[in-house]
Parts: sequence; C-alpha cells; structure tokens
Amino acid sequence: MKIIMLGAPGAGKGTQAKRIAAKYGIPHISTGDILRANVKGDTELGKKAKTFMDQGLLVPDELVIDMLMDRIGQDDCKNGYVLDGFPRTIPQAESLDAALAKAGEKMDMAIDVDVPDENIITRMGGRRACVNCGATYHVVFNPTKTEGICDACGEKLILRDDDKPETVQKRLNVYHEQTQPLIAYYSKAGILKSVDGTMEMDRVFDAIVRIIGE
Ligand code: AP5
Repeated sequence: MKIIMLGAPGAGKGTQAKRIAAKYGIPHISTGDILRANVKGDTELGKKAKTFMDQGLLVPDELVIDMLMDRIGQDDCKNGYVLDGFPRTIPQAESLDAALAKAGEKMDMAIDVDVPDENIITRMGGRRACVNCGATYHVVFNPTKTEGICDACGEKLILRDDDKPETVQKRLNVYHEQTQPLIAYYSKAGILKSVDGTMEMDRVFDAIVRIIGE
C-alpha cells in the first residue's frame, strides 16, 4: 500500500503517518525528518537544505527528489510506504509518478488532512520535537509525562526553529502557493481522500482507518 499524506504544515501529517505506519506495517517516510537528520549530521545536503528550511522555504526539487527516490528504492519499501511531506510541488509529484510507472506501479491514495490556517498557528507554537528520536508532542493536545522530556527516549524536547510564528506564516504561504495545487492533481488522478484534521487526534485516525480499510 502506497499512501501520500497531504496537508498544511502542522495539519497533523506526521502524527497520523506514524500511526498508519504502525498499524499497517509499512515505513513512514518523512522528507522533513530526513532533511533534519542531514542538517544535524552536517552533510553536504544538510548544509544546502538548512538555508531554505530556516526561512520556511521549500528545499529545491532537485535535492529532494533524488533523496526520496533513493529512500523508496530500499528493501523495506517493497510492500509500500506512507509518504509525509513529499510530494510538495507538482514537479515532485510528476517525478514520483514517472518513477513508479517505470516499475509498473502507482500510488494507491493521497489523504489530505484538512485544517484551516487559524488552527495551524496555535498548533505550531505548542509543538515540541525530540532532538534525538524525532517524536513530536504538543504542550496542550499531546503533552509528555514529564515537561520538556521525550516519553519515548528521555531526551530533551525543543521548539523547531521553523515553528517560530513569523516562519510559520511564511510556510503557510508557501504551502498555499506550491503544495495545495496537489489536491487538484490527485483529485484528477482519482486517488484523493480527505479527512477533517481539526478533530481530536484519535478521531482523525479513526477516519483514516475507515478510508484505508481495517
Ligand atoms: P516537514 O517536517 O515536512 O514540515 P511540514 O510539512 O511543515 O509539516 P510539519 O512536520 O510541520 O507538520 P505535520 O503536518 O507533520 O504536523 P504534526 O503531526 O507534527 O518539513 C520541514 C521543512 O523541510 C519544509 O518547510 C521544507 O523546507 C523542507 N521540506 C520537507 N519536505 C520537502 C519537500 N518534499 N520538498 C521541499 N522541501 C521540503 O502536528 C503538528 C502539531 O499539532 C504537533 O504538536 C501535534 O502534536 C499537534 N497535532 C497533530 N494533530 C492534532 C490534532 N488532531 N489536534 C490537535 N493537535 C494536533
């Protein structure tokens, strides 16, 4: 099963993609996580990507497409995957379709987690991320047992640099300009599904399971 998660920054794509991955036994592939790991590791890709990410801009397609193709070519992706944060532009979607078509494959569904901009601003300010394992929490909607400490690995939590209010607004603008057109793209392809992402996290997941099937 090959699934794409669509939605604005902070809509809950990552939260739901992790649950999908666990329930259906497929890898969760987040281009944001892969890029942040490269930034942390100070790789060539990380150095190039950081300047764009810190400003709330998209990393250029040529850097991201190769990185993603490489990842989905790995052995653990043979039975499918859930993509979180890719594609984010029409050229990325077309490259993905072309690469899959070459192998006689196609995406099964694109799930849009729909959340209005005003809810996004509140969510991002309260998000906390683990520097070590990448788990994400929210100070109100999904708090940790001990404040500031990751439940999963015990490391410290941080506010991501790109979650500061001025950068969030920029990311939303970039989303509307460059990523939202993918909703029409996948609707035309006949694989678009939509869920109301303003519901409580468990309810959003229930709605997704109803779409994918038990
Ligand atoms: P990326 O990491 O992909 O960021 P994003 O798409 O902006 O998405 P987020 O991770 O911010 O949000 P999310 O939708 O996963 O929400 P989450 O589940 O955490 O990308 C970062 C950057 O990398 C980009 O800006 C770009 O520069 C670059 N990049 C990445 N991919 C790229 C690509 N393909 N091309 C070019 N550049 C790329 O939830 C958010 C918060 O809300 C959390 O605190 C969570 O606990 C809470 N929450 C979730 N669901 C609910 C709910 N139902 N109710 C209440 N709270 C909720």
